[in-house]
Amino acid sequence: MRINTLKRFTLTLFNQDMEKKVELEICLGTLCFIMGGSAFEMISESLPEDLMGKVLVKGMNCPGYCNMPKYGRAPFVKVNGELIAEANIQKVIAKMREEVYHGANK
Ligand code: FES
Repeated sequence: MRINTLKRFTLTLFNQDMEKKVELEICLGTLCFIMGGSAFEMISESLPEDLMGKVLVKGMNCPGYCNMPKYGRAPFVKVNGELIAEANIQKVIAKMREEVYHGANK
């Protein structure tokens, strides 16, 4: 009985935490880095106040988008799995706000 209560409590906390997170994946490949991806290195420390604590920042190895013109140009990031080409801070923050306030994670 205690274990079930603990499990339920833990799942509730986990679900609440996951509901409000936007996942930002930053390509750590060389081309993305030199094309502007380096600007994302410190993004978790410089998020606008309304996004603080709502973003999970991850790095990803080069997925190869930089070698396929149909995806656009580097740097690449993903916000909740959606690819953003020619990513810059303004574009990415706008997309994260869209996800937080209007996406499935609101
Ligand atoms: S270096 Fe970023 S997609 Fe290849």
